[in-house]
Amino acid sequence: MKLDDLKHYIKVIDIPLDVNLEIPHLAYIEAKKKNPKILMFTNPMENGKKFDIPVVMNIFANDEVVREIFGRDLEEIAKEIESLIKMKPPKTLSEKLKAFGKLFAIKNTIPKRVKDAECQYHIYEGEAATLDRLPILKTWEKDGGKFITMGQVYTKSLDGSVRNVGMYRLQVYDNKRLGLHWQIHKDSAHLFWEYKKAGLKMPVSVAIGGDPLWTWCATAPMPPGIFEVMLYGFIRRKNPRLVKCISNDLEVPADADIVIEGWCDPNEMEIEGMFGDHTGYYTLKKPFPVMHIKTITTKKEPVYYATVVGKPPLEDKYMGYATERIFLPLLKTTAPDLIDYAMPENGVFHNLILAKIAPRYPGHSLQIMHSLWGVGQMSFVKHAIFVGEDAPPLRDYEKITEYILNHFDPENILISKGIVDELDHSSIKELIGGKLGIDATKEAKGIDIKILEDKKLFERIKELDESVEEVKQYMTHTKNPICVIKYKKTKRAREIFDKLKALKKHLRIVVFINTPETFNPYMLIWRVTNNIDALRDIWIEEIIGIDGTNKDKNIDEFDREWPPDVDTTKEVIEKLKNLGLIEGISEEELRKYQVI
Ligand SMILES: Cc1cc2nc3c(=O)[nH]c(=O)nc-3n(C[C@H](O)[C@H](O)[C@H](O)COP(=O)(O)O)c2cc1C
Repeated sequence: MKLDDLKHYIKVIDIPLDVNLEIPHLAYIEAKKKNPKILMFTNPMENGKKFDIPVVMNIFANDEVVREIFGRDLEEIAKEIESLIKMKPPKTLSEKLKAFGKLFAIKNTIPKRVKDAECQYHIYEGEAATLDRLPILKTWEKDGGKFITMGQVYTKSLDGSVRNVGMYRLQVYDNKRLGLHWQIHKDSAHLFWEYKKAGLKMPVSVAIGGDPLWTWCATAPMPPGIFEVMLYGFIRRKNPRLVKCISNDLEVPADADIVIEGWCDPNEMEIEGMFGDHTGYYTLKKPFPVMHIKTITTKKEPVYYATVVGKPPLEDKYMGYATERIFLPLLKTTAPDLIDYAMPENGVFHNLILAKIAPRYPGHSLQIMHSLWGVGQMSFVKHAIFVGEDAPPLRDYEKITEYILNHFDPENILISKGIVDELDHSSIKELIGGKLGIDATKEAKGIDIKILEDKKLFERIKELDESVEEVKQYMTHTKNPICVIKYKKTKRAREIFDKLKALKKHLRIVVFINTPETFNPYMLIWRVTNNIDALRDIWIEEIIGIDGTNKDKNIDEFDREWPPDVDTTKEVIEKLKNLGLIEGISEEELRKYQVI
């Protein structure tokens, strides 16, 4: 597929905009619209200097575009994968013919090396291979600099037997060096260790653009040792076309728009970040390996793909949905009784998973919880809620919440410990944190609660503690109503929680926040699932307490640095407004998603 095949979904912005904040801010707003478009910026600038290469953002703009990019329904691809996994030796002639078709699909996964590749039309070597040719963006005000955000990073094992591509952001340190933000659990980080042990330099190549499916494949959580490019061939139903890089032995997509080739020395690390991340918080500064650039090649007329991550919803919602659907059959190989699952984007994927199962014996959901927490990138999941076969569709969030609260019993909660995503900011220790599993497959016993009106309840709570600022109840018609309390954080939430026990006949689940989401359930889920570590922040007593506040060094004795929220820059939003570029989205929606 070529970018041109998606032209009906592209909105062209000819007005010159700066690569620093302006272009990414507009893409950020576009992604929050009801039907977002792909944006092509034909005049990217930096302090008055114009770049020759246009910037394309929101390439995975919406569900329809994703379907176009994958060439068919995601469910159809998932079914094909499932039938391959379940393949049995054929007996009859028709079974043999079917099996032949399936094997043909596998044959498509083998990469084909080509000689004359469009991505090597222009070759810049030595002094000419500099990053300032590219319209690389600075997305957020507090970012440590500019970052390549849609780079497919190609690496291979020391003995060459394993090849990998992953999408990792790359910080521009200077014209010839990039920061390689492959997190500790990721495949390239494992390969990197092989080079470190051997004391040898590691070749790295970064491809940008080409068929958009390459970009998604770089994000796909394939098991270690399996080259994601094979998945590309399987989905596209044709052999992936790769070309050898000019200055190293790695192979990259022949149709890439831009290829940056180089190497890294495993003994050289440099501080990376901060960076406004997809958690909606900044990830803090930390050392990562450094890539030295040898050669840059491009197509005749390249475009530069970039994405913006920050508070949801954003483009990664659509990329993540494709991953969720396509990986269901693979997940079922380790959790066969899993019927379906959903990773809502406001749970920023690893913070919340909803799973549907048909339990057949006591502890069945516990068994699946443990298996998920032990599988590849699923092991990053912090909060897993299991519902029964009779539950409404997992993406009907209103109904599923109602179902969960009617099937929630404190005795069916499991709090455990495991690895967490390197981006997680709330765990007591970096990389290791609490896990919450809720088995909501059985109807809850429930207890009698006398619901008070919000205003009345607020008064009663305020009498107990002056620091409480707002109170809002949700799902009061269910067996487990939720009461959200916003308070001025001069003390631990736990102190207020203890006082609230005096109101236990009016309360069931109490959630504490010290941020502005009290009346905004979408962002409330985002905030709370981000901010809690189940081992520290959940109290199951006469009532249930959840501390979803931002943690503080002094108040909470939180030893790590708490990162800031990812927020837009006011002057940039004003400028875009004055240029008439912010349209198709109401002020109310902009406020809901905390853009303004
Ligand atoms: C927009 C976007 C940005 C990402 N940035 C990073 C990153 O900077 N570092 C990282 O380790 N993973 C990042 N990821 C996730 C990886 O691409 C994903 O985990 C992938 O499966 C890694 O490949 P690997 O398993 O081959 O290492 C990002 C994903 C998306 C969708």
